Amino acid sequence: QIAAASGHTVVLVDQSDEILKKSTKGIEESLKRVTKKKFADKPEAGAEFIEKTLKNLTTSTDAAAVVHSTDLVIEAIVENMEVKNELFKRLDKFAPEHTIFASNTSSLQITNMANSTTRQDRFGGLHFFNPVPMMKLVEVIKTPMTSQKTFESLMDFSKAVGKSPVSCKDTPGFIVNRLLVPYMMEAVRLFERGDASKEDIDVAMKLGAGYPMGPFELLDYVGLDTSKYIIDGWHSLEPNNPLFAPSPLLNKLVAEKKLGKKTGEGFYKYK
Ligand code: 3HC
Repeated sequence: QIAAASGHTVVLVDQSDEILKKSTKGIEESLKRVTKKKFADKPEAGAEFIEKTLKNLTTSTDAAAVVHSTDLVIEAIVENMEVKNELFKRLDKFAPEHTIFASNTSSLQITNMANSTTRQDRFGGLHFFNPVPMMKLVEVIKTPMTSQKTFESLMDFSKAVGKSPVSCKDTPGFIVNRLLVPYMMEAVRLFERGDASKEDIDVAMKLGAGYPMGPFELLDYVGLDTSKYIIDGWHSLEPNNPLFAPSPLLNKLVAEKKLGKKTGEGFYKYK
């Protein structure tokens, strides 16, 4: 959405036409919200902006078939290293020489993914934050193999889509999630111990720390499955780190397919 809105030609790829239809609808809704604010007094200019943005966007269910005309590939599929590596390995065969590959992973090692391709110097991390149209940050991740030219291209692209990039080494969680995920897990543990209700914990962090959402609202917003993938991955890397300990309650909710806002229920219920 933000790439198309800033004049880039974008091909959105997903597994089925049904998902792509849903995604395109979500983008249209989001564009309407952005436009309402940006073009408050000029509805015609707003409508033109939406039309222009959507013109820059096409969809496909076959990544290998469309990658030949790309300068940059941003992967944002399931948080599973094997699945990501398989995709990157396949795309590496069909992508032009100059094309940069980037992952939007929240927690997995970029170096490992780069090594599944032959373009380790043209590989980095581009980590965006939910909701992307609103959150100004992008973390740009440079592995020991990422060339300076690639790093600069990723920084330039981040700025071109209207974001403020920061850089971090290829370490678990980079900056934001390394701080945010242990904080959210500590909130779940506080609740699991019965020290406070989830509602009170959310109110406390909003009114006492000035956070826009409480930790349980944020967990539901990010997705409990995504949060579980992150913590399970870090726990296997550092089993003795208490900050990375899995939570029985989080595991139970995920097993019950209560994944947060996207499924209508997580820690809270959504209509
Ligand atoms: N697209 C476009 N605009 C959106 C939007 C979207 N998807 N979501 C919200 N907005 C806009 C609304 O239209 C509204 O605009 P307005 O000011 O013109 O009315 C504005 O954002 C505020 O929205 P709301 O009034 O609905 O609600 P809030 O004031 O609570 O703001 C929020 C919503 C921006 C999501 C805010 O609650 C927030 O900043 N929450 C914290 C989000 C956060 O921490 N994100 C990081 C998660 S971690 C992550 O993503 C990393 C991953 O790897 C796990």
